Amino acid sequence: GTAHFGLIGLGVMGENLVLNAERNGFSSVVYNRTYAKTEAFLQGRGAGKDIVGARTLEEFVATLERPRRILMMVKAGQPVDDTIASISPLLEEGDLLIDGGNSLYTDTERRVAELESKSFGYIGMGVSGGAKGALEGPSMMPGGTRTAYDAIESLVRKMAAQVDDGPCVTYIGPGGAGHFVKTVHNGIEYGIEQILAEAYDLMKRVGGMDGDAMADVLAHWNTTEELASFLVEITEVCLRTKDPAGGGDLVEVIVDAAGQKGTGLWTVVSALEMGVPVPTIYAALNARVLSSLRPERLAAEAVIAAPPAGGAMDLGDPAAGLPPLMDACIAACIVSYGQGMALLQEASRLHDYALDFAAIGQIWKGGCIIRARLLQRIQNAYTADPALPNLMLDPWFAEQINRRLPGLRRIVAGAAMAGIPVPCLSSTLDYIDSYRSGRLPQNLVQAMRDCFGSHTYERLDQPGAFHTEWIS
Ligand code: 6PG
Repeated sequence: GTAHFGLIGLGVMGENLVLNAERNGFSSVVYNRTYAKTEAFLQGRGAGKDIVGARTLEEFVATLERPRRILMMVKAGQPVDDTIASISPLLEEGDLLIDGGNSLYTDTERRVAELESKSFGYIGMGVSGGAKGALEGPSMMPGGTRTAYDAIESLVRKMAAQVDDGPCVTYIGPGGAGHFVKTVHNGIEYGIEQILAEAYDLMKRVGGMDGDAMADVLAHWNTTEELASFLVEITEVCLRTKDPAGGGDLVEVIVDAAGQKGTGLWTVVSALEMGVPVPTIYAALNARVLSSLRPERLAAEAVIAAPPAGGAMDLGDPAAGLPPLMDACIAACIVSYGQGMALLQEASRLHDYALDFAAIGQIWKGGCIIRARLLQRIQNAYTADPALPNLMLDPWFAEQINRRLPGLRRIVAGAAMAGIPVPCLSSTLDYIDSYRSGRLPQNLVQAMRDCFGSHTYERLDQPGAFHTEWIS
């Protein structure tokens, strides 16, 4: 065979990634479980391109040059294992399988070990940027063996989004490192989405603003170094869009119940298991889960009272971007990235991933959903100190947090009095206040544990483990 690149799975992401590869000079062969889809693609978006279709996996494999580079874009979970099971008997030594879906990183660890033991290469690659990113240049997070990565490097460096200091792809690390980094990327994505949703709720319910007025504030935010980002940009678009069926703002007719496909949950579960606090990301996940209890919420609305009106909260001047609200969002976004990076630090230590945090900041600057101007600062922070335990300890970010805290406090306090839930903003405030506290009340928790269970405690003034007979 002579085709440079093979794709299995013609969903939107698969289609766009193969068009991206072909545009970058890689002749391709595509396979889909139902051939009708392949045919439709080749007659439609794939027409006139250096792309051929295969009816069977045997034909697919025979069409590829060796070592074969095969990207699987199938649903995470069992479909990935099924695809591996059906194609691996047809592969030869050195051939490479790449899983570009949002797989659970422990599944990827297992698959890398299995496939490598058969002398195949296996790459678990996070791909971010949605459909448009896949076509025009995504951010890519490949993990597996270094040798396997070397065999796909020329391909992925061309396909990835390009920023001033290079393509948005790098070798992430061994085993499931690529998918773990993508998972945490998505956790941060959940955080920022929820922060912007809370800002919207306050603008609407406290500020009485309509979609266009809110969109203007977002447009202002998007001009700042701290908030300029893809998610702020699309939030402006979402808020400005009118309902084709009515004329009002489209967002107002969308059901307020958010689903999820797993990555946000896995971020939080991993964080709990690894002992890393990620309360802002957890709050975002929980907000989605709670939102989906819509019938219960509607019932509760009639039973549990809202606070009395009055004590108006001041969001500030819209023309200046509602300064306290902007401060609150900046602090919470920084903290979302910070919690994600802290989780990556711990995962890297536990799994020997040897992650390069500055490089992760670099590949997130373009292509991906959480791309933001702030990532340059994140890259700088980890270049200056690769072992930085928390972004807030970097001088530039510490100054930002100090500058934004008064606004965050005002917003969280005001929202509490108004009865408007701001789970991400309030968790962020608690997180910062806890993190900056040299003394926390867990001395009392330790006392209680020793009191009822003789769990012992340590003293500030002398070494050793102590026990007291608290109850005589
Ligand atoms: C991306 C996205 C994408 C993912 C959803 C998140 O980086 O391009 O993270 O990979 O499919 O956007 O999924 P849910 O919000 O549905 O969990």
